[in-house]
Amino acid sequence: MRTIDWADGKIRTIDQTRLPEEEVVLSLGSVEELAEAISSLRVRGAPALGVAGGLGIALAARLARENGQDVGEAISRAASLLGSTRPTAVNLKWGIGRIEEAYDPSRPRAVDELIERARAMVVEDERTNRLIGEVGADLLSEGSRVLTHCNAGALACVAHGTALSIVEVAHERGLVAGVTATETRPLLQGSRLTAWELKRMGVEHRVTIDSGAAGLIASGGIDVVITGADRVAANGDVANKVGTYPLALAARANGVPFIVAAPLSTIDLDTPDGDAIPIELRSASEVLEVNGARVAPEDTQAYNPAFDVTPASLVSAIVTEIGVVRPGVDDLRALVESARGEATAGPSADGKR
Ligand code: MRU
Repeated sequence: MRTIDWADGKIRTIDQTRLPEEEVVLSLGSVEELAEAISSLRVRGAPALGVAGGLGIALAARLARENGQDVGEAISRAASLLGSTRPTAVNLKWGIGRIEEAYDPSRPRAVDELIERARAMVVEDERTNRLIGEVGADLLSEGSRVLTHCNAGALACVAHGTALSIVEVAHERGLVAGVTATETRPLLQGSRLTAWELKRMGVEHRVTIDSGAAGLIASGGIDVVITGADRVAANGDVANKVGTYPLALAARANGVPFIVAAPLSTIDLDTPDGDAIPIELRSASEVLEVNGARVAPEDTQAYNPAFDVTPASLVSAIVTEIGVVRPGVDDLRALVESARGEATAGPSADGKR
């Protein structure tokens, strides 16, 4: 099943807060319900958020048409509500913008066309992520012991994942000896979601506490660290789930490659560097409570950033759907601009592009 899709005029998605105990499928029939699902991480992961944003705008347009309201106004309201839910993940802004910009009230089928465009994003995401897997698996050799953080799998996308798409393809090629997933405090995306996906994929795996990862890397137990990204700045700095930066430091200190898997939609050329990436701060209760039970004394304060920034200098390679980019070696801006230009231009007259 796809993690997120359009079904019967609503947005269908698996509730990631209920995994691994229960596979609950949600049918979100309003923009407010979608905004709540995003804020509470029922739907999460950069590419899935991009698709959620696009489908959310299509949903707003459909509802406004049915209720005889102004479609353009409903789209703007939805864009601002959804866009405020998760500030770091640039895919959300990208997905919203892509569908919002496509609205042309002068066209007789304007709303239907928006829905078709948003649904095409679902198909495109699936294809993009499989391509990332194929490109990235070429970087792995036989017997690879992989370490990954948070969840950059099918659940974070429509299907396949980014970091876990590389694991999926490499596993099909017989290259993966095993995967260690960090548990990813405080919301445990690694233990709950990545372990669930790896089990379904039939990949040998285990979970480590986040603070166990650096020692494991130092002891020679890991050949490659692969993570996803929520935003890659124009200079190659990477924002990803908090705890990624320490992994990159440990990898560099021990000569282990640190690979980031991300679609072009996660690369934000408007953000010059990591300092300019807004970092989402989440509720203190996520840190001070475990499964609803308080673990710190009353009145304790908490610092709960959802993401941290890894400088480009620590990133060995960024794996995208069009190939591998090596920060400091390749010109990220030029590659992305050229790929986007080709996509906009479409097939050339001689059909060779
Ligand atoms: O807060 P989350 O669970 O949405 O954080 C997600 C991550 O950090 C993922 O690594 C990232 O979105 C990559 S998605 C393939």
